[in-house]
Amino acid sequence: MKDFSQYKKGTAAVWAGESDQHQGSPITAPIVSSVAFSYSDPDEWYLAASGQAAGHIYSRNTNPTVAVLEEKIRILEGAEAATSFATGMAAISNTLFCFLVSGKRVVSIKDTYGGTSRLFLDFLPKYQVEVTLCDTGDHASMESEIARGCDLVYLETPTNPTLKIVDITRLAAAAKKVGAIVVVDNTFATPLNQNPLALGADLVIHSATKFLCGHSDAMGGLLAGRRELVEQVFRFREIHGGSLQADPAYMIGRGMKTLDLRIERQNASAMTIARHLQGHPKIREVFYPGLPEHAGHAIAKAQMTGYGGMMSFSLDGGYELVKKFLSGLRIVHLAASLGSVSTLAGTPRTTSHVELTAEQRSRLGIPEGLIRYSVGIENAEDLLGDLDQALSLL
Ligand SMILES: Cc1ncc(COP(=O)(O)O)c(C=O)c1O
Repeated sequence: MKDFSQYKKGTAAVWAGESDQHQGSPITAPIVSSVAFSYSDPDEWYLAASGQAAGHIYSRNTNPTVAVLEEKIRILEGAEAATSFATGMAAISNTLFCFLVSGKRVVSIKDTYGGTSRLFLDFLPKYQVEVTLCDTGDHASMESEIARGCDLVYLETPTNPTLKIVDITRLAAAAKKVGAIVVVDNTFATPLNQNPLALGADLVIHSATKFLCGHSDAMGGLLAGRRELVEQVFRFREIHGGSLQADPAYMIGRGMKTLDLRIERQNASAMTIARHLQGHPKIREVFYPGLPEHAGHAIAKAQMTGYGGMMSFSLDGGYELVKKFLSGLRIVHLAASLGSVSTLAGTPRTTSHVELTAEQRSRLGIPEGLIRYSVGIENAEDLLGDLDQALSLL
């Protein structure tokens, strides 16, 4: 396999992991949906099975189509190693349960994705893992919680759905002092806009279901980072069984070939829309880290190369007004998920934080009038026009 680490990310996303060594020399890596791989020589089989020689054995462990995708994320995140999972939540839960056994302590933020919050609030404590969730953005309190001693620091930035920004460099430095592993969910930013490993993190996670796939037609999860740590999670996953299949791996890898183009468009459109909505009389607040007024803008500017395609905004009113506005939009899917070619919108109570109660959402500072808006690759002027006409109905 050729090494594409010296090229720009847009080039690596297309070429990394691809090989011309397939039978008949197809120019895209084939979908190898075989469950097992045969060997005519039992000694060769043994060498591959025992890890002494390269080769695939069984697709719960490794698979050639899945390996192409893993190589793409490895290069884009500048990692030593990468592995994959059936979903983003499988990536998160396998990583957390691999390192956090009874008696260990994890420090994280209150604003993680709703599914991740459930792991912290409901599941990890059942296994006697001590979980400390700090106010997102209160870096001093996070530093002092980390300094008390912990085994893992789990971050997400920008956060879901209010786009808060966490200073990865600062918290990774605090974690290093106590020997804690730093894990960052980089789903919202994508490797095109932010590389947590270069900022001091040990592991980076993606829900590949989102921007990496980009078309809302396949689910997957990815983990990249220090080889020694990735290998531990890989061994945990191959036995716990949350492996990525060849078909979705192919779809996600196919999506990643246009990631650079999509992200460039989505970054630019989100910025234009955020600026426009900020001045709109019917909008109370716009949450987008690219806006200079955003509380985390200075940190975002330092650690991101683009501000991403996700934003949220609140209307001057409650859920009834939100319903009216959402029903008035035309160029949108009112649906869960994010990071697709088509614009998606929803409310936290139906998307990211469906798992939480209204009271828990309000404690996280998520307004009831909040709309999460995932900017697609449509023409930005059309999206602006659509938002304006829906707002004019209110
Ligand atoms: C930031 C973030 N991380 C992880 C996940 C979970 O990913 P998946 O739905 O692929 O399990 C999501 C899903 O919305 C997310 O938004």
